[in-house]
Amino acid sequence: AAIGKGNFRHFMEKELHEHPIVIGDTLHRMIDPATRLPVLPALDLDLNTISRICISACGSAFYAGLTARYWIEEYARIAVDADVASEFRYREPPLHSDELGIVVSQSGETADTMAALRYIRTQGCKVMSVVNVPESTMARESDLILETIAGPEISVASTKAFTAQLTVLAGFALALAHARGTLSRDRIEALVAALMELPAKAAQILNEEDEIRRLATQIQDARDVLFFGRGSMMPIALEGALKLKELSYIHAEGYPAGEMKHGPIALIDASVPVIAVVPSGPLFEKTASNLQEAAARGGRIIVLSDSEGAKKLAGIASEVVILPDCDPFVAPILYAIPVQMLAYQVAILKGTDVDQPRNLAKSVTVE
Ligand code: G6P
Repeated sequence: AAIGKGNFRHFMEKELHEHPIVIGDTLHRMIDPATRLPVLPALDLDLNTISRICISACGSAFYAGLTARYWIEEYARIAVDADVASEFRYREPPLHSDELGIVVSQSGETADTMAALRYIRTQGCKVMSVVNVPESTMARESDLILETIAGPEISVASTKAFTAQLTVLAGFALALAHARGTLSRDRIEALVAALMELPAKAAQILNEEDEIRRLATQIQDARDVLFFGRGSMMPIALEGALKLKELSYIHAEGYPAGEMKHGPIALIDASVPVIAVVPSGPLFEKTASNLQEAAARGGRIIVLSDSEGAKKLAGIASEVVILPDCDPFVAPILYAIPVQMLAYQVAILKGTDVDQPRNLAKSVTVE
């Protein structure tokens, strides 16, 4: 049967509202209820001797891969490379059989990602795919599939598939850490518990629609918007910028906040909104001092943080959106939602074609 929009104006709005259920379903598939540990399908590869992981993907799926890099390196202590597939496939990096390839794709059909998968296999490496379509070409050609349970995604701009990819990769990082003994059982259980709280917290964020709409009115006339984040939040800054440019045609750039002083700071004045995804956590103070520098140059700082972080940044922020408290581990998953909602609301204000932005395709199956 054809998929409808239900009571929503656009598929994108409907799909944004599916974040809680999709994250929940994806976790349900991954976490063993008896042990409360993430389960990993059998892979003919010794997890203790993986020397490196290479992640390849396109678009938002690439940002999920970039986030996974932080998680896997921190928790499982394996070196990770993450590349856009269109670069990876022609760079033809040397790989060794004790390395693992991971491709991430909603459709499982993106041409560049497919080519990356095939290249990895020519190098004698196993490939794991994180896909939303289990019958897809990538799924069929992979050694191992970790499925995102996002359901069909119709909006060209990915939303729920992205948080599902993040959820799978977060679970995978913990499964690796468990197999390799790089995290204690207690710590893994605490991180799993943080994952399990995500559906309820995602639902809370969806209730902040008015707040997000108010923010959208403040950036709809901007010519340029900068998104900043650090550590595992950096890819979420990239996702915020990508969504905004795709949907509203406003030029936006995502940047690691610590790199701001090497370029983007030259752009900052009162006409350029600076949006920071900055939850409390290890890099909070560092990011805050970067934002301080942006504020000192007249930047209009819009902060997405928790209540503690928002309090600390109140002096420099012109706008603050307070999100639920969470373990820094899961913050990228949670903060992806408001940046996507923001792009959606700006697109509504600008009257663009939300579900079908100009020049874009849902699945890019040609090079
Ligand atoms: C297109 C879509 C994006 C998506 C990317 C990768 O550009 O508009 O939303 O992230 O393709 O697609 P995939 O199916 O491989 O995840």
